Amino acid sequence: MTNPSATGRGVWSSKTGFILAASGSAIGLGNIWRFPYMVGEGGGAAFVVIYLGFVFLLGAAVMLAELALGRHTDRNAVGAFAATAPGTLWKLVGMLGVITGVAILSFYAVIAGWTVGYLFKTVTGSFSQTITAQESQAIFESFAASPIANVGLLFVFLAVTSIVVWRGVSGGIELVSKTLMPVLLALLVLLAIRSVTLSGAGAGLEFYLAPDFSRISAGTFPAALGQAFFSLSLGMGAMITYGSYVSKKINLVTSTGIICLFDTLIALLAGLIIFPALFHAGLSPESGPGLVFQVLPTLFAELPAGQLFGAAFFLLLAIAALTSTIALLEVPVSYVIDEWGWSRGKAVAATAIVTFLIGVPSALASGAVPFFSDLPGGGFLSLMSIVFGSYALTIGSLGLAIFVGYRWGVQAAVAEIESEGVTFGLKHAWGFLLRFLAPVGITAILVYIIATQNYF
Ligand code: PHE
Repeated sequence: MTNPSATGRGVWSSKTGFILAASGSAIGLGNIWRFPYMVGEGGGAAFVVIYLGFVFLLGAAVMLAELALGRHTDRNAVGAFAATAPGTLWKLVGMLGVITGVAILSFYAVIAGWTVGYLFKTVTGSFSQTITAQESQAIFESFAASPIANVGLLFVFLAVTSIVVWRGVSGGIELVSKTLMPVLLALLVLLAIRSVTLSGAGAGLEFYLAPDFSRISAGTFPAALGQAFFSLSLGMGAMITYGSYVSKKINLVTSTGIICLFDTLIALLAGLIIFPALFHAGLSPESGPGLVFQVLPTLFAELPAGQLFGAAFFLLLAIAALTSTIALLEVPVSYVIDEWGWSRGKAVAATAIVTFLIGVPSALASGAVPFFSDLPGGGFLSLMSIVFGSYALTIGSLGLAIFVGYRWGVQAAVAEIESEGVTFGLKHAWGFLLRFLAPVGITAILVYIIATQNYF
């Protein structure tokens, strides 16, 4: 974001810079931590198939709509609605996004803190070469239940995120994304190769890749839909905000395609690492948020120089999480700066403090404080992940689809997408997705959950 645009907001310095930053926002714990445990709980390959359908039918359509709205208005999540529908209640969709951003960040930073904790554990040799599944599980449980480690790491992660966001979105993000994402990808490929060649990997591959639709339940559809929006950073204005830093020259259609493909590739690779290793170690796919932290140390133990690979992995995962927490914090911060006229420093400090306070119960919800750990839905952290990470994003995406489809209008959006000579061949299909398939499909799923009371 080095060249100021006509309106004084920054712009990404190049198309690659934008794609990498937006992919950096999309790729993170959602792919490597959340996707595997949702697949594990959601019945394996059948969940994966439904997830892929949602990503490419609904997710891609919503992403393009968010980017177009952001670039057109050059505003934050709330301002974008206010600019295209002045004096209406549509800006409430943006407000929901701002609140959702803070709420997601509050628990996301706890898990990001776990990656930092695991980096230290790996470097200091907590995982000996011969770690068993039971040992790995025990290490995880005692770590997750430590109040000081969890609150401390939450604080540290939010502090680092705040510093980056305070210095301005992207000088830093672009650079970090450009250099480290390819390294992360290479490491994931390597780990996947090791994992699928473990003894007993076959059972894991079958669970992950051979769909058995008798395994899915009423909750699978909303869970897969919510995961699609979470993983792609949709439904809370993150892509509106990032879109507002995009120059008119960039083709938003191909960019959307690349970001969706890249995000999906990383999630699929993560599953290819986790499930064979999980079945090899004899752990349960239904271990919830602790899943990958329990499985991975057992995989590193199977690698030559496992400590080195483990350390590199957790370091890169922490960085991937950082490029997502930056996006999560940037949404409320850019709102406060644009709409309340606060300075960036004050906006960052205030938002980060509020987020930290909301995050403390999540940091204490994996055994430290029984009250937070035993709440319905798997404790406070899981509850935040379901309510905000799945439902709020689903409702936000529904609002956005209806807004762009009917209020701002498909024609106006297409005109924005086609500015500076871009042709959008699939514009009719896109209009159909936004105006009909997305609103009807998402509403049907929401009604279904309420009717079956299958909330978790
Ligand atoms: N998509 C990010 C991930 O998968 C999380 C995120 C959600 C980031 C919403 C920004 C907005 O890790």
